[in-house]
Amino acid sequence: MRVDTLPSRRYFVVSFARRGKTTRLFILIPFICLLCYYLGMAIISDDDKIINTGVKKNPNIKMESIEYDKTFENSIRPKDFDNYIGQSELKETLKVTLEAAKLREKPLDHMLFYGPPGLGKTTITGVIASQMGVEIKITSAPALERPRDIIGILMSLKGGEILFIDEIHRLNKVAEEILYPAMEDFTLDMTTGKSQTAKTLRVPIPKFTLIGATTKAGDLSSPLRDRFGMIHRLEFYTVEELAQVVMRTAKILEIEITSDGAKAIAMRSRGTPRIANRLVKRVSDFAIVKYDGLIDEKVANESLDILKIDKFGLDTTDRALLNLIIEKYDGGPVGIETIAAALSEDVRTIEDVCEPYLLQAGFLQRTPRGRKVSPEGYRHLGLKQASEQTTLFDF
Ligand code: ADE
Repeated sequence: MRVDTLPSRRYFVVSFARRGKTTRLFILIPFICLLCYYLGMAIISDDDKIINTGVKKNPNIKMESIEYDKTFENSIRPKDFDNYIGQSELKETLKVTLEAAKLREKPLDHMLFYGPPGLGKTTITGVIASQMGVEIKITSAPALERPRDIIGILMSLKGGEILFIDEIHRLNKVAEEILYPAMEDFTLDMTTGKSQTAKTLRVPIPKFTLIGATTKAGDLSSPLRDRFGMIHRLEFYTVEELAQVVMRTAKILEIEITSDGAKAIAMRSRGTPRIANRLVKRVSDFAIVKYDGLIDEKVANESLDILKIDKFGLDTTDRALLNLIIEKYDGGPVGIETIAAALSEDVRTIEDVCEPYLLQAGFLQRTPRGRKVSPEGYRHLGLKQASEQTTLFDF
């Protein structure tokens, strides 16, 4: 067909206008339906913000968005309570709660887990999901910036599913307001129109369980905190528990290790299973390249010394933080912003990653005027406190 014989756009408009009312409706209705469908899908599909734990495959999930480290963590995550080591109080409570929900045939209460990073908040959520036989959608508060982000996820949930929101203390006010009726009555309150003509529509959504995780429970607004039926703090792990985690991970990854080797790694893992799992891999690299492949106490200790992880699990940043306070600020107190600026780290990393363990180990103290190194902190670095140092008056 020659180009100049193609019907023009005006031809279509004129011939459409000349049709009868019924014919025009026949043409328009499928067109409008298609348009609505695509607009709806654009709002609902937020798969770039959702990550699956691998409990069950979900078509909404884009697997490429999971970083390498997460893939490693997911591959060793326990799927049942027997394989989940530590947090025994939480496990016992959860077993009863899950059993009751199954007997009542009702979804689980919303739950809030808090505590320092790496203690297994995501892992325990995965165990809950697999024990209940439901899917889990994982997202984090900073990814729920716009109202459509949270609405999209809530509308994509199926009955009984678990929605896991990490760093829930960072949720913005609008997203929180959308969550309230969703958590309480399983509805979404949508407003249409403007000012006087505005109408509120209550849209029902499937019953779901929200599991929130945070390192800062105190930063959650009280209306949000009050909507959780269960609030639980995750504790640091003992050396014995961490040694079991190390043995389990080594078995899954087919790494040869002795129980003394596992204990040596556990002792330097800062009470945190995520760190223990990373260290098993790092030490295993050394064991293969520099030794005969087996991780025993000597191999573990020598490798961790090379990695500059000391007997208490402190790394270069932790020691730099303590040294800074001692050398530049006379042991403190000094403000967190000053510490972060001097170390070229951001305040959140210091607060969430370094501090919790330094405080728990008793090397650092938090005072109203800032952070102070404790006498144990000085002793650990092999330094003397100014008050302990000999002065001219001692002679
Ligand atoms: N990996 C990470 N956390 C774990 C835990 N609590 N038990 C077993 N393996 C783990």
